[in-house]
Amino acid sequence: MKKGFIFDLDGVIVDTAKYHFLAWQNLANSLGISFSLAQNEQLKGVSRVRSLEKILEWGDKTISEEEFTRLMREKNEEYLNYISKMDINEILPDVPRILDNLISRGQAIALGSASKNARVILEKVQLIDKFHAIVDGTNVSKAKPDPEVFLIGAQQLDISPEHCIVFEDSVAGIQAANTANMISIGIGDAKVLHEADYIFTNFTEIKEEFINNLVLARKV
Ligand code: G6P
Ligand code: MG
Repeated sequence: MKKGFIFDLDGVIVDTAKYHFLAWQNLANSLGISFSLAQNEQLKGVSRVRSLEKILEWGDKTISEEEFTRLMREKNEEYLNYISKMDINEILPDVPRILDNLISRGQAIALGSASKNARVILEKVQLIDKFHAIVDGTNVSKAKPDPEVFLIGAQQLDISPEHCIVFEDSVAGIQAANTANMISIGIGDAKVLHEADYIFTNFTEIKEEFINNLVLARKV
């Protein structure tokens, strides 16, 4: 049976959280706001605009609309500078094995990411050709946990939501997949991602037999 496999990008396919951290930390420090790794964790899956709003809230700062726009641009320029140095070595373990396995079975594959930089990152790590559909921050109006990004992905793959499987590392993303009535697979910490239907620390734990079952499964 043909299923739709939808992958989040940041934290699932590549670990870009470290680059977001460096860029956000620089921005926060320039405003006299401290920014920790724990706070960076809370920005996973959160849009760029909402991330800056949260940092300003944490620092109890108010800024003008012009400064907000300038800071967003500067943050992204710094982030893109890190991204420009990415290559295939930054793909997380066993992601190509899973993608190639699904492709060889004729399964449909989509990206479902909040990032507006998704295409450039997929190009840098040379995975862009593996995806039949790419839905990113430039295509959606509602952020995860709203299911919009995954529902558009399913639509573009021409597969009904209950026949889709989502791989996600953020709580908001797991909630979005569940709301979309898709099978949710958490990649990361089981304590954090407990709302997921299945949880794995990373893709090396996912065996071929599990993929076989997903191809046959239906969410009830
Ligand atoms: C992903 C990341 C977030 C990031 C968001 C927007 O969801 O997990 O940390 O803020 O994408 O990314 P962008 O590349 O558009 O700034
Ligand atoms: Mg993510």
